[in-house]
Amino acid sequence: MPLLSATHGPVTAEEGGGPRDLPHASWNAPWALWVTEEFRLITTDDGTPALQARARPGSFLPEVTIYPLDRGDVRPLQRVFDGLSPRSRQMRFLAATPYLNPEMAAQLADVDHETRGCWVAAIGGEPIGIGRYIRTAEDPTVAEVALEVVDACQGQGVGRLLLGVVGTAAADAGITSLLWLMDEDNRRVRRLAAPLGGRFTLECGVLEGTTALPSVAPLDAAQIVRCARAARRRAAARTAA
Ligand SMILES: CC(C)(COP(=O)(O)OP(=O)(O)OC[C@H]1O[C@@H](n2cnc3c(N)ncnc32)[C@H](O)[C@@H]1OP(=O)(O)O)[C@@H](O)C(=O)NCCC(=O)NCCS
Repeated sequence: MPLLSATHGPVTAEEGGGPRDLPHASWNAPWALWVTEEFRLITTDDGTPALQARARPGSFLPEVTIYPLDRGDVRPLQRVFDGLSPRSRQMRFLAATPYLNPEMAAQLADVDHETRGCWVAAIGGEPIGIGRYIRTAEDPTVAEVALEVVDACQGQGVGRLLLGVVGTAAADAGITSLLWLMDEDNRRVRRLAAPLGGRFTLECGVLEGTTALPSVAPLDAAQIVRCARAARRRAAARTAA
């Protein structure tokens, strides 16, 4: 079973002519990522650091806050799941997933921000997106990545924000590559993965491939790392208690 997905067949063989690059739009100004800061570090009511994303020009979304999930906190996961249409759930879990059962919710909330990281995007305290990574058992420097944004907020840049945060937090935990499993018709996630390079194979409608981590402006990366380390300490303290 894929680490972050509902059941579907293994994706190892090549289909239709072997591994290939994902087609993607031109990425002709990567330096732009390095000169703009996206995040402001804030402190939440319970004293934990979080990231406030700058409002995007042209977006109808108000300011988005991104924070690491607390171990065992299933509420944001359920809220985001509830905001996904059946098609989005299919895209996320690669299988029809009508509800999040308690075992699955507990498994998804079992994070330590070391082997399993999970970040929540929220607007006004209401969770609207989740980004996560899980190290693979075969190679601890590779982590499977998964993203989900409620349908009402899709296409407004939240997925890209989450990817930058998750990728940077994963890098700080020693991960060097991201493993993607995605429906071949999932144009948004393909667009997120494609600029990161890598080769993909297709089997039974599922694209699988490993890419580099996303680039994030150094000041943003520093803020993300600060939040990630605080989350790791909190998770370790909970485990020890
Ligand atoms: C995939 C998903 C996480 C992306 O999040 P999002 O907030 O909707 O995506 P963004 O707004 O950040 O857009 C991502 C990219 O897709 C592009 N995009 C947006 N709408 C698009 C559309 N209708 N068709 C093609 N590309 C589109 C954006 O332009 C952006 O690329 P860019 O930054 O190079 O311009 C979200 O759509 C989702 O939750 N889908 C259902 C679950 C899922 O598919 N999860 C992925 C499993 S790994």
